[in-house]
Amino acid sequence: MIILGIETSCDETAASVVVDGTKILSSVVSSQIAVHSPYGGVVPELASRKHIEAIVPVVKEAINSSGINFQKLDAVAVTQGPGLIGSLLVGFSFAKAYAMALDIPWVGVSHLEGHINSVFLEPDPPVFPFVALLVSGGHTSIYHVTSHTKAVLMGQTRDDAAGEAFDKVAKMLGLGYPGGGIIGRLAKDGDPEKISFPRPFLDKLSFDFSFSGLKTSVNRYIQTHKNEYRNMIPDIVASFQESVVDVLSYKIINASMVKDCNNIAMVGGVAANIRLREKVKEEAAKKGIYVHIPSFDLCTDNAAMIAAIGYHYLIKGKVSHINDDVYSKVAI
Ligand code: KG4
Ligand code: ZN
Repeated sequence: MIILGIETSCDETAASVVVDGTKILSSVVSSQIAVHSPYGGVVPELASRKHIEAIVPVVKEAINSSGINFQKLDAVAVTQGPGLIGSLLVGFSFAKAYAMALDIPWVGVSHLEGHINSVFLEPDPPVFPFVALLVSGGHTSIYHVTSHTKAVLMGQTRDDAAGEAFDKVAKMLGLGYPGGGIIGRLAKDGDPEKISFPRPFLDKLSFDFSFSGLKTSVNRYIQTHKNEYRNMIPDIVASFQESVVDVLSYKIINASMVKDCNNIAMVGGVAANIRLREKVKEEAAKKGIYVHIPSFDLCTDNAAMIAAIGYHYLIKGKVSHINDDVYSKVAI
């Protein structure tokens, strides 16, 4: 089944053509970073306007570079939520109209289930059941995943998402937006043990997270080292990153042991973090656990993952209807 995936939940306009939920023929992502970076975060109104400009050229490019004719498409899958309503509406309305014009089925899917299914676009995917850590700009959650379409939430952040903490710390240090990638690069030259930031475990047995206290600690450190912190940026970000990495890796390994799963998946934008990838693999190897992390392009927002999860709903017979609407928040 050849599916066109469409993703516009935040600040990336993306389209992709995927066969049977696994084989990517094309994946196009148009980023709005340049538009939002002067504001240090996504401006929803600007995001919607940019999606409107980008959606047609991005879909055209995805189809052209896939090597197939648009008449060969069997269905359209599109992000229905969660995300920014104005942004979601652009992709969702486009998908509805496009599918209706081609007279093919279409299905609205969860962005979060899309991220979880991104591991199936890589060779050697996980075996069910597995435990997944979703770490992105909007979410930090652990799921027990028993099928492509069933993920039971085990725990999530009570305040900031991990990606949000990276972005806010980068902003405090004047490093630019989005901060995750920038911090990851700068941290390579820093000493992760230089500053002892707290490890916010909450309860060690629970799978909930909290990153706002850690963010406050970094802020306090900057305030109390006003004269010298500019020369210490690699050490500050390396120490901050190590704290986040310690907590995330501990919880995902612990979750897999509690659920007796020897496969774990780590997905979402923060899963692109080199130190996090390294640490999770290192800790998992000690326990004989297999780790599945998508390549960098499939960690951050993309439409291939939307086509992948869409496939699993479509083969079960699920389709969306003209009156269906987008949603901003969900708990899956
Ligand atoms: O999954 P994603 O593209 O969008 C959401 O669904 O939120 O994740 C974006 C988040 C941003 O907060 C960004 O700073 C973070 O992922 N990120 C990283 C890295 N690359 C992107 N965080 C840490 N290290 C990275 N290398
Ligand atoms: Zn995402």
